[in-house]
Amino acid sequence: MPALAALLLVLLAGGAQAFRICAFNAQRLTLAKVAREPVLDTLVRILARCDITVLQEVVDSSGSAIPLLLRDLNRFDASGPYMQLSSSLLGRSTYMEKYVYIYRSHKTQVLQSYVYDDKDDLFAREPFVARFTLPSKVLPSLVLVPLHTTPKAVEKELNALYQVFLNVTRCWPGEDVILLGDFNADCASLPKKRLGELTLRTREGFLWAIPDGADTTVRASTHCAYDRIVLYGERSQGLLRAATAFDFPRSFQLSEEEALNISDHYPVEVELNHAAPGGQPLSLVVALLLPSLLLPLVPTQLGPTA
Ligand SMILES: *[C@@H]1O[C@H](CO)[C@@H](O)[C@H](O)[C@H]1NC(C)=O
Ligand SMILES: *[C@@H]1O[C@H](CO)[C@@H](O)[C@H](O)[C@H]1NC(C)=O
Repeated sequence: MPALAALLLVLLAGGAQAFRICAFNAQRLTLAKVAREPVLDTLVRILARCDITVLQEVVDSSGSAIPLLLRDLNRFDASGPYMQLSSSLLGRSTYMEKYVYIYRSHKTQVLQSYVYDDKDDLFAREPFVARFTLPSKVLPSLVLVPLHTTPKAVEKELNALYQVFLNVTRCWPGEDVILLGDFNADCASLPKKRLGELTLRTREGFLWAIPDGADTTVRASTHCAYDRIVLYGERSQGLLRAATAFDFPRSFQLSEEEALNISDHYPVEVELNHAAPGGQPLSLVVALLLPSLLLPLVPTQLGPTA
């Protein structure tokens, strides 16, 4: 039965052309790093999977890293053109990071964006909020709220993120909201008990799509669900078809060492269907394909009982 469920999921997602939203801590992304060919190649393939990616830890002060990345991405994948929206450099000291959205502009567009006005200095890198259009009648727009927490104040920042969420819902009442990024929400940075006490966990309505047991780290020696995607709103939750950490080393056949040259994090991603499930073209696809797909499964289904 799990195989059948997985098959159906693939059919549903494929048939309805899912929209994929990703968050990736690209670990100290500089021009020098992007300019290395194996790094650039892999980054481009990671970005081409997603309709919107929020890159974090972009530490490029030259301002040339992202244009270089975009140039190669647009050469590699003609389904763009991909465009970008960068925050300013954010941080408390000389160490600063940008959030950068990279998005497939024929499918989605930026309506508004702002850096959260962090008057009480709650965040090391305050969220760079952006409202996007989506190619969906059910969900024509959506607000993204990325955060890369500092490991020293994960709990404080994640509770402050709820305040940002409230600000967003005041700004755009009724909009669905996705909070996402490297929350450092696991292992030594945030013990399970304190995780459970976060406002974003105790309040109703928030779906933590990347679950606590996930591993979003590249190293085989670590197993932590640092990177998360949290959905608020019935429409986005109803359209959710998949949520995963993308194991790019396995998909692209990279050794751990090679992968660590890209990042010590996996990207995390959610897939949203464009339409509500059960639409006509979908049932047609299922009706036409299901019998032939089920036949090869029959012997394995009978296996254990035979
Ligand atoms: C909250 O949202 C409003 C827009 O509705 C914005 O003008 C304001 O600066 C935001 N507050 C903070 C603290 O960012
Ligand atoms: C990682 O990058 C460094 C710097 O470019 C390079 O010297 C090294 O060979 C790379 N390691 C692997 C395993 O690709």
